[in-house]
Amino acid sequence: MLDDGRTVGEGTREQLMRSCPQFADLMAGGHEEIDRVSGESDLWPDAETTEPAEPALGADVPEDAQADLGGWLTRLPDAAASMAADPKVTRVAQMLKPAKGLFTAALVLIALSSLATVLVPLMIQRGIDEGIAPGDHRRLLFYAILAWSLIAGDWIFYIGQSLFSAKGSESVQYGVRVRSFRHVLGFSLPYFEKEQGGQVMTRLTVDVDSLSRFLQSGLVNGLMSLITMFGIGVAMLVFNPLLAVIALSPIPLVLAATIIFQRLSTKAYDRAREDIGKVNSSLQENISGLRVVQSHGKQSIASQFFQKVSDAYRVSREKAQRYIALYFPFVVFCSQVSNALVLVAGARFVADGTVTPGVLAAFLLFLGQFYGPIQQLANIFDSFQQARIGQKRTDELLAMPQEEPDVVESDRTSADGSRLSGDIRLDDVSYTHDGAVEPALKNIDLTLDQGSSLAVVGSTGAGKTTLVKVMAWLYEAETGRVEIGERDRGGLDRETYRRRVGVVGQAPHLFDTTIAENIRYARPDATDAEVEAAARRSGAILAIARLLRGFHYQVDDGGSNLAQGHRQLIALARAELAGTDLLLLDEATAHLDAASQSAVMDAVAATDATTVIVAHRLATAARCDRIAVMEHGRIVEFGTHDDLLAQDGRYRRLTASAEATVGAPTTSG
Ligand SMILES: Nc1ncnc2c1ncn2[C@@H]1O[C@H](COP(=O)(O)OP(=O)(O)OP(=O)(O)O)[C@@H](O)[C@H]1O
Ligand SMILES: [Mg+2]
Repeated sequence: MLDDGRTVGEGTREQLMRSCPQFADLMAGGHEEIDRVSGESDLWPDAETTEPAEPALGADVPEDAQADLGGWLTRLPDAAASMAADPKVTRVAQMLKPAKGLFTAALVLIALSSLATVLVPLMIQRGIDEGIAPGDHRRLLFYAILAWSLIAGDWIFYIGQSLFSAKGSESVQYGVRVRSFRHVLGFSLPYFEKEQGGQVMTRLTVDVDSLSRFLQSGLVNGLMSLITMFGIGVAMLVFNPLLAVIALSPIPLVLAATIIFQRLSTKAYDRAREDIGKVNSSLQENISGLRVVQSHGKQSIASQFFQKVSDAYRVSREKAQRYIALYFPFVVFCSQVSNALVLVAGARFVADGTVTPGVLAAFLLFLGQFYGPIQQLANIFDSFQQARIGQKRTDELLAMPQEEPDVVESDRTSADGSRLSGDIRLDDVSYTHDGAVEPALKNIDLTLDQGSSLAVVGSTGAGKTTLVKVMAWLYEAETGRVEIGERDRGGLDRETYRRRVGVVGQAPHLFDTTIAENIRYARPDATDAEVEAAARRSGAILAIARLLRGFHYQVDDGGSNLAQGHRQLIALARAELAGTDLLLLDEATAHLDAASQSAVMDAVAATDATTVIVAHRLATAARCDRIAVMEHGRIVEFGTHDDLLAQDGRYRRLTASAEATVGAPTTSG
C-alpha cells in the first residue's frame, strides 16, 4: 500500500484491512475527505507566487505588432486575412493573389535594380572611351559620378524590393498556414484515426515551411537573376551584335544542359521528399512511443531502423546534389569559354578599330554579371523544387474531404441556447470502421429515459467505445437513427449537438496551460468560483488541492506530468463545467481510486444530464439505473443490476469473474 510516495502497509488483503487504516479507507471508498477540502490558499495560491497570468485558452492573442514604426510592414493585408478564412480557397495558387500587388511592386523595383546593374558597365565604357582615351578628366569624373549614383539607386531599389517581397511572401505563408489548419479542424474523426495526426503534422510543418522558404528568398533572387541576365543579353546585342553573338554562343549548350538537368533532378527531388517523409514519421513514432521502446530495451533496433531510413534520405539527397554538382560547374566552364572567346575576338576587333577598348571592357564586365546569377540559381532551384512539392502536398491536404465545411465561424455564437432534451432512442444503429471486415456495431436498439444513467459493460473489443462515439456524433451511424426527444439528433446541427454532449475518454487530452484554464476550456467566461464548484462536483477537488499550486498547476505535454487519474478528474470537471445534456464517460473512471470514483458516481447521480458510462468495474455499473451488456457489436443483455443478476447470464458471469480476481466490489450505493 503506497501513500504519498511511501510504503504504508504490506500484506494480504485481510492483513491490510486489519492493520492499515489507509487501505481500509481506500477499500471503503468514502469521500469525506473531498468534502473537507476548502483551503483557499492551497487551491488558488495568491498572486505573488503566481507567474504572469496565462492567457485564457482561446482568448484573443494580443496584437502588439501594429503599433511600432514599421506598422505598415507588419499589418496583414485584408485580402490575405479573408482568403485564409475562405473555405472555397482550396489551392495554394489562389492564396498568391492577395499578394499580387506587393509582388508586382517588388518586380518593378527588381527590374529597375537590374537596369542599374546593366547601365553601370555602360558608364564604364563611356568613361574609358570618352574620358581615359582622349585624356578628358572632367568627362571621366562625370561618368564616374553617374555610375556611383546608379549604384546608390540600385541599393535603394534593393531595399524596397526586399521589403515588398518580404511582406508579400509572409502574408502568403500566413494564408497557407491558417487555411490548412482550419481545413484540418474540419476533418472527421474516422478520417483522422486512419490518416494519423503525424502525417497531417508533416504537411502543416515541412511542406508549408519549404513553400515559405522559397517565397522568402528564392523567388525574388531568382527573378532578379533572370531579369538581370535578360537585360544584359539585350544590352550586349544593342552594343555590338557580332561580339554579343560570339559571347552568347555557348548559351544553346547551357540551355540543353538545363533541360536535361531539370528532368533528372525533379525526379531526384520527388524521391528525396518521399524519403524525408519516412524519416519524419519514423521519428514521430519512436519519440511518441519512447517509453515502450525503452521499456522493451529496443533502443538499438529503433536506432538501426532510423539510421536506415535516414541513410536512404541521405542517398537520395546526394543524388539530387550530384546533378547540381555536374550542372553548375559546366555552366561556369561555359562562362569561361565565353570570356575567352570575347577576349580573343574582342582584341582583334580593337586592333581593327571596329570596337573601342571601352566596349570590350564593358563586355567582359557584362559576362561576369551574366553568368554570375546562374551560380546563384543553383540554391534557388533547390528551394524551388522543394517548394513545388510543398505546394503540391498542401493542395492535396486542402483537397481532402472535411466532414463539414469550415466550422470556425460558428464558435462565436455558441450560446444560442439550443438544448438536447427528451429520451434517447437508438434505432437499428450499425457502424463499420474503415477497413474493418465486420461491423463494430450491429443493429443496436436502445432506449434511455432523460436524466437516467446507463452503464455499458462487455469484453474488450465488444464495441463500447464505438457506441459512445456514435452517440457523440463523432462517428456518423451507417444505418439507423439516433433520436433525442423523438427527433433525429435532437433536431440540432452537428456543431450544436456536440457542444451539448460531454465526452470523457480513458486518456483525455489536456492542454499545456494551468488546470483552471483546462477546466474552463469549454466556457472561457467561467469565474474561478464556478471552476472550483465544477471541480468539487466532479470529485476532482481533492486531487487538485494536493497538487503544488492547486488550480494554478501547470500542465505539460498534454498532461504527462499528471497521474492518469488526475487527467480523468480534470477532464470530468471540464465536462461538468461545460454543462452538457448528455454525458458520455468511456472508462473515464478506470484510473480512479474508489473514493474519487464514488465521488464521480455521486456527481452522475446528481446531474440532470443523461449519462452513459462505459465501465470495466462492476461497482460502477451497479450504481447506474440501467446496464447494457455488449458482445460482438450487439447488446446481449439489458436491465437493472438486480434484473441482470437474477437472469444468471453474461452479466452474472462477468460479476463472478471480477469477484474471483480482484475481490468483491465494495462500493456501496
Ligand atoms: N479506428 C478503428 N478502425 C478500425 N477498427 C476499429 C477502430 N476502432 C475500433 N475498431 C474495432 O472495432 C471493434 C470495437 O472496438 P471498440 O473500441 O468499440 O471496443 P471496446 O468495446 O470499446 O473495447 P475496449 O473495452 O477494449 O475499449 C474492435 O474489433 C476494434 O478492433
Ligand atoms: Mg473502448
